[in-house]
Amino acid sequence: METSILSGLEASKALYSSLESRISHLKDHGIIPGLAAVLVGNNPASEIYVKNKTKKFESLGLKTDVFRLEETVSEDELLSLISKLNTDSEFHGILVQLPLPKHIDSEKVLNAIIPTKDVDGFHPENAGLLSIGKPRFVPCTPKGIMFILKHFNIDLNGKHVVVIGRSNIVGRPISILASLKDLGNATVTLCHSGTKDLKYFSKQADVLVAALGSPEFVDSSYIKEGACLVDVGINRIEVEGNSKIVGDVNQDSVTGIASSLTPVPKGVGPMTIAMLVENTVLSAELLLN
Ligand code: GUN
Repeated sequence: METSILSGLEASKALYSSLESRISHLKDHGIIPGLAAVLVGNNPASEIYVKNKTKKFESLGLKTDVFRLEETVSEDELLSLISKLNTDSEFHGILVQLPLPKHIDSEKVLNAIIPTKDVDGFHPENAGLLSIGKPRFVPCTPKGIMFILKHFNIDLNGKHVVVIGRSNIVGRPISILASLKDLGNATVTLCHSGTKDLKYFSKQADVLVAALGSPEFVDSSYIKEGACLVDVGINRIEVEGNSKIVGDVNQDSVTGIASSLTPVPKGVGPMTIAMLVENTVLSAELLLN
């Protein structure tokens, strides 16, 4: 079987072109969508993620500022920055890049972001809205996955979607989105580190979402022929002294067995950034309503 590549890069371009008219409509009303990115410490991966996000905002003529804080910053100082950003009308979205240093209570920090600027969709109010089927700000990676599937005409209606990984950032929200009647209408199984006989479930998947954060974990023995695979992993590994990024799917092993597959890189990653832009535009649009 030929395995088609579901390019997130291609899908993200389609989203950016649909955003152009929304952005110019906002600009006509004197509103430039703005993102405040808060980066604590010097985690190299977080530095790269924030840089990629802000670069994209700049290239679209949107406003973005990075607020850098020392690794040793106190929780109170971070909370006071968030409180200032909550009322700063130049910023429609606030993103606190995770992970935060261990001495900071991440949940407390994320809960301090005003829900109407929570473009990551991590605040309990937004998570709650999603779980009752009334999504407002949806976490960017799962929202991006839904967009890729739609872009490539992969219909989830009545299909069995199996998700591996139950994080609040990806696994849990994608399982809800895929199950919602108006969005996916799929039958969903959410597997995790406590799942016994994972292959029993993963081999039933029409669409398998690998979001467990383990390099090349899913190989051909985990899937059924013709499955669609969504690879959410971004793992840095060493191969013969060189560092390389791989997903949670062993892409060589599944090629020829899966019907389609999101690549790593240029799969889910670009869609996550595109959805951050979309959520920030959406937040700015709330001002017009
Ligand atoms: N760290 C890993 N993924 C994410 C994300 O989507 N948003 C934020 N803020 N931090 C992350």
